[in-house]
Amino acid sequence: MMSVRQVGDLRPTLVRARGDGKSIGFVPTMGALHEGHLSLIREARRRDDFVVVSVYVNPTQFGASEDLARYPRDIERDAELARSAGCDLFFCPRDEEIYPAGFSTNVEVGGLSALLEGASRPGHFAGVATIVLKLLNLVGPSRAYFGEKDAQQLAVVRKMVRDLDLPVEIVSMPTVRESDGLAMSSRNAYLSEPERALARRIPEALEAARAEIAGGERSPVVVREVVAAALGRESGVRVEYIATVDPETFALLPSLRGEILVLIAARVGATRLIDNVRVRVGEAAR
Ligand code: PAJ
Repeated sequence: MMSVRQVGDLRPTLVRARGDGKSIGFVPTMGALHEGHLSLIREARRRDDFVVVSVYVNPTQFGASEDLARYPRDIERDAELARSAGCDLFFCPRDEEIYPAGFSTNVEVGGLSALLEGASRPGHFAGVATIVLKLLNLVGPSRAYFGEKDAQQLAVVRKMVRDLDLPVEIVSMPTVRESDGLAMSSRNAYLSEPERALARRIPEALEAARAEIAGGERSPVVVREVVAAALGRESGVRVEYIATVDPETFALLPSLRGEILVLIAARVGATRLIDNVRVRVGEAAR
């Protein structure tokens, strides 16, 4: 595996791979790699001839009061994990490489970016869209891999690719979970032991929603109530939003039908966690 820090060193290697007729698979990450990231890298390895992984903690997608400074970083460990999952080229640029003095472009995916996560984290998706577009331009992959864990981010990226006719296929992969159901996340490292025990209520609440819908419930209000109850009102899981949305537009649904996403954003202690489940709503309403 080759490790590259400079944008200028990226191009020659990729030009060579492309010249050899290789398909390039790309997995953008912010590091602190876990099994969720590794599942994306392994899928890229399975489907593409040359696999690029980036690790870059993108400052522009963090709000002023967020965890940029303490976001977990361990580049040596990440490089080793990426290599073992099948990465060929590990790209870990410095801030000056990505945002040289005078950088002033901002990519705003309208509509979608203002809802839910976007409302909770103003500017977040513009930061994501800008860095993802930039990385896609630097790497020029045939396919780029994203996790369904960050469902709205995935929708924003897909929309940008469609709107701008970017020549890349976006591949999504299911959320990888801990044995008790908690979605893997670099931010789980912030949780104390009691907080970690509480956090399992989030996947449990999503499962309760899924079961309720499978049982015939079609009212979003009732499903949200079920989720809130499963999270426990006095439990220390502080809900930011519970939503049932269309998986592409993230529009709130007046009634549940077709493919939907049930989303939770909540704080456990100081740690903000998000999770979601995709549900196919059956025909028979009660
Ligand atoms: P990061 O949070 O490091 O996630 C990188 C990729 O891994 C994303 O596509 C994310 O959805 C996926 N991922 C995270 N946890 C996962 C899990 N438990 N199961 C499956 N996939 C999971 O998302 C970002 O970084 C950044 O916003 C980025 C796209 C790199 C732009 O800076």
